[in-house]
Amino acid sequence: MSDSRVSSVAAMHRKQFGAGAQLYQAPGRVNLIGEHTDTSEGYVMPAALDLRTLSVLSPRADLTANIYSANFHQQVSVDLSQMPSAARGHWSDYPVSVLWSLQRRGIHCRGFDMTLAGNVPIGSGLSSSASIEVAVAVAVLDYAQTTLAKPEIAKICQIAENQFVGAQSGIMDPFASCCGVKDHAILLDCRSLQYEPLPLPEQVAVVICNSMVKHSHSDGREYNQRRSEFEEGMRTLRSRYPKMQTLRDIGEQELSDCAELMPDHIFRRCWHVVSENRRVLQAAAALREGDFVRFGELMVQAHYSMRDNYEASCVEVDILVELAMLQTGCFGARITGGGFGGCTVNLVASKNADAFVENVRRDYREKTGIEAEIYLSYPSDGAGPVPEA
Ligand code: GLA
Repeated sequence: MSDSRVSSVAAMHRKQFGAGAQLYQAPGRVNLIGEHTDTSEGYVMPAALDLRTLSVLSPRADLTANIYSANFHQQVSVDLSQMPSAARGHWSDYPVSVLWSLQRRGIHCRGFDMTLAGNVPIGSGLSSSASIEVAVAVAVLDYAQTTLAKPEIAKICQIAENQFVGAQSGIMDPFASCCGVKDHAILLDCRSLQYEPLPLPEQVAVVICNSMVKHSHSDGREYNQRRSEFEEGMRTLRSRYPKMQTLRDIGEQELSDCAELMPDHIFRRCWHVVSENRRVLQAAAALREGDFVRFGELMVQAHYSMRDNYEASCVEVDILVELAMLQTGCFGARITGGGFGGCTVNLVASKNADAFVENVRRDYREKTGIEAEIYLSYPSDGAGPVPEA
């Protein structure tokens, strides 16, 4: 993270609130493979990004939390002794939801002034919301002199998003933001929350292409709808396999045997999840062996499954994947994150990365008239305090 960004956000806080303060950061994430599997205790493979939210906190003597967003140029005030209990469809829902979730967990603090400033693109599948939540959580926990294990912080943020904001999202995003490891992806088992950092060697670059088609999570109707569809499938499957807790517990053959028991679209939602769990484990094995060709093939299969079975892609993102796969040195490309727009993640030989960026940008513009944003991403460490520059 650049020193100039840190000092300008610290200066902004001083200007807004007239006080020096402690700084914290929490990254967004890119998911290499394992989409829509976290909500049924499956496997995912995210990496924390060097795009992040900075939070700055200074103490107050009363019970007011003033939260200023440098992105929205707006400030909200919350009385910590009378917390709102529901979202109002505003950016402040994310920070406020975390205060609410911390209080539910019995973690209270005095008032504070906070500045939030992020450079994770909003609504693009890179977890801008989790990065805000985690940046608030680590700052407030430190202020409340409470130490929690990082997976616990992730759970507090997930509860905030599920029960206050109203998005039925899984654990992956806050977990990656909390537990990311520099130069690694993490293979996370969303049931046990055990994770294994997998090194991403220098010879490959993780490139993110933003289709510029936005999704919104807080009214994430499609996200919640897909989730309820595969849950309907799970209920049907449990009648055949009573020991099955979630889709994570069955394989493709067992699912195929039940195809007749459910409508086609419900079967395809389940098929995506079950086959995606297998792909994540195969991709982890490929990465351990340095087999990027195999890893890339699995990424493309995962994309087709998101497009055809989970039906959570869109035309522009499909074009980005097609264009990427035509480029020299591109091992694999797929949609990343919740879907319905947003970004692709691409695994590209480092020596070809610059040409890849230039060509995909040009070809996407020619095909769609849209100017994509493209980021060369550097997997980073998870959230924590930042020394002031
Ligand atoms: C969103 C959710 C995650 C996960 C992904 C899809 O990012 O927040 O929990 O479900 O979509 O993999």
